Amino acid sequence: MDSILVRGNGALSGAIPIAGAKNACLTLMPATLLSDEPLTLTNAPRLSDIRTMTQLLQSLGAEVASLQDGLVLALSSHSITNFKADYDIVRKMRASILVLGPMLARYGHAVVSLPGGCAIGARPVDLHLKALEAMGADLDLRDGYVHAKAPGGRLKGAVVEFPFVSVGATENALMAATLARGTTELRNAAREPEIVDLARCLKKMGAKIEGEGTSTITIEGTDRLGGATHQVVTDRIELGTYMLVPAICGGEVECIGGTLDLVASFAEKLDAAGVSVTQTNRGLKVARKNGRVRAVDVMTEPFPGFPTDLQAQMMALLCTAEGTSVLEEKIFENRFMHAPELIRMGAKIDVHGGTATVTGVERLKGAPVMATDLRASVSLILAGLAAEGETVVSRVYHLDRGYERVEEKLRACGAHIERISA
Ligand code: UD1
Repeated sequence: MDSILVRGNGALSGAIPIAGAKNACLTLMPATLLSDEPLTLTNAPRLSDIRTMTQLLQSLGAEVASLQDGLVLALSSHSITNFKADYDIVRKMRASILVLGPMLARYGHAVVSLPGGCAIGARPVDLHLKALEAMGADLDLRDGYVHAKAPGGRLKGAVVEFPFVSVGATENALMAATLARGTTELRNAAREPEIVDLARCLKKMGAKIEGEGTSTITIEGTDRLGGATHQVVTDRIELGTYMLVPAICGGEVECIGGTLDLVASFAEKLDAAGVSVTQTNRGLKVARKNGRVRAVDVMTEPFPGFPTDLQAQMMALLCTAEGTSVLEEKIFENRFMHAPELIRMGAKIDVHGGTATVTGVERLKGAPVMATDLRASVSLILAGLAAEGETVVSRVYHLDRGYERVEEKLRACGAHIERISA
C-alpha cells in the first residue's frame, strides 16, 4: 500500500489547476443508461472512483471509452445486456446505487446490490428507494440486492417529498423522472452544483426539467432521450482543498478554474479566519493576509451551506489558528476520524458526538498518520505541509479515489511531497 511523505517547507505559492468534479462525473456517467445515443463527458477527473463507475457500467454492457488521457469519457448504452449491478463492484463505491434510477426508468427492471456500510456513517439508501416507490416501482429487498420493477415497464410521475436533503437520492429520482410517464415534483431536493450540472446535461439529452438549484425540481417525463456532449463542472471540493494550502502554509495560490459561487460559504469562513479570496479571470486567488489565521466556528450543511466534504480539511487549518473553534458535523454521524490522527501531530481537539472543539497550536509536528477516508486523507496532507518535520500518511488509496496528481499539483507550489510505493 502506498504512503505519502510530506515535509513542512514554509509558505507555498503558485497556480493549481482544478479538475472536473468527481461527484458530478459519478452521476453524469450513469445518465448514459437513459439513452441509446452516445454521451460524451469532457473535463472528467482521472480518479479511481471514475474507474470503478466505468467498470460497473461496462459490467452492464455499456461502452465506456477513456480518451485524451482520461479527460474525455465516451459512453454509450445502446447494448445493455445485463441488468444486475453486482455486489463485487457496488461494495467499492456507494455512488454505484445511481445506476438504479436510470436502469429502472429505461428498461422497467433492474437489480442492484445494496451498498455496504461506510466508514463515515451508516449511509442508508432508503430515500432513494422511497422516491422510486413513489414513482410506482415495485421493490423487493432480498439477498443484499434491490430487485426493482416498474409495472407496465414504465415509472410514473409523482410528487416526492424528501424528509431531509440527500444529494444521491435527488440525483437518482431526477434521472428516473426524465423517462417517467407524466410530471414529477421533487420537493426538498438537494441544491448542490452537481445536481445543477446533472440537470443541464439531461436537458441537453432532451429532458424537460425546471427548478434545478432550488429545493423544488419539476420534471416532465419524455418517451426517449438522445445523446449529448457535456463538460463536467469544476470540483468545488478539490477547489476548497487547494484554497487551504496558502491558508495553512502562508503564500498565495491561484486555483485555476475556480469560481466563487461554488465555494461561497467556505470562502466566507476563510475570510473570517483572515484569508483573502479574490476572483480573477482564470480562477480564485487565495492568500493568507498576515500572521496566524483566527479561529472560526463551522457547521456543515447541505449546499449552499458549508460542505461536509471540506470539514476535515478545515479542521486541519483550525488546528493552527489563534483561539478556539467549534466544528459541528450535521450531515454524517461519524466524520471526525481524522481528529485522532491530527492529535498525533500535536493538535488540541476534543470530540463530543457531532461537535469538535479545536484549540489552535502555533505549529503542528510531523508524525506517521493513517488516512481513514477520502477527505480525512487530504486533511492530513494539509496538516503535514504546515507541520514541523516529516509526516507519513499511510493508506493513501483513499486519496486516489478523489484527488488526481496531488503530488504534482502541490510540488508546483514548492511543497515537499513524495509518494512511497510499497
Ligand atoms: C454525496 C457525495 C458525498 C457528500 C454527500 C453530502 C457523491 C458521490 N457523494 O453523498 O461526497 O459527502 O453527498 O454532501 O456525490 N441518507 C439517508 N438515506 C438515504 C440517503 C442519505 O439516511 O437514502 C443520509 C446519509 O446517511 C447522510 C445524509 O443523508 O447522513 C446525506 O447524504 P447524501 O446527501 O445522500 O450523500 P450521498 O449522496 O451519499
